[in-house]
Amino acid sequence: MKFFIDTADLKEIRDAAAMGLIDGVTTNPSLVAKTGRKYLDVVREICEVVDGPISAEVLATDYDGMMAEAHDWAKVHRNVVVKLPLTLDGLRATRTCSNEGIKTNVTLCFSANQALLAAKAGATFISPFVGRLDDISEDGMNLIEDICTIYQNYDFATQVLVASVRHPVHVHRSALLGADVCTIPFKVIEQLAKHPLTDAGLAKFVEDARKIPR
Ligand code: E4P
Repeated sequence: MKFFIDTADLKEIRDAAAMGLIDGVTTNPSLVAKTGRKYLDVVREICEVVDGPISAEVLATDYDGMMAEAHDWAKVHRNVVVKLPLTLDGLRATRTCSNEGIKTNVTLCFSANQALLAAKAGATFISPFVGRLDDISEDGMNLIEDICTIYQNYDFATQVLVASVRHPVHVHRSALLGADVCTIPFKVIEQLAKHPLTDAGLAKFVEDARKIPR
């Protein structure tokens, strides 16, 4: 399973990249707004740090506006993946991008039927939002299971990119289900490495190491 980092914070991206754990980056307007910087500047800088798919979202909601932004994003760097919303206009833009060889990440997916449409439109990635489904008392991971099954049934090439990840259990279950990618906030990447028995075991080894004659 590939790991993308879900952030627009360059420090987090550099730190995670230095750990050798990052295959790509996802951004969205909310994450970029937190930086106080221009979206284009942020994406350009990310492309210098990570050599993998970098999702940059369109801000328009109509087909013509989305396509204009998709063409602009595609010129920024070969690794930029255009993030399009799962609407009828977004699906149409996905199909056009696919025909033009522009990679896409279809975002805001909350149902298996939406994921089926995105695959039929030729999406490179589909982003089901598991955490936001959990927030409304649904099990977001059931959606991942359904999408993985449907895509396997019909051999769709669209990659399942688990998004809105909130905790390590989302990552664990994504890996068991065979999802292609998990996009993970920096805090959750740190949590993945943590285990109380690792900390306790290391403390004991450090203590005992002091007793070894030098
Ligand atoms: C990434 O592509 C998504 O935009 C992001 O994972 C959404 O996460 P959130 O539901 O925590 O905002």
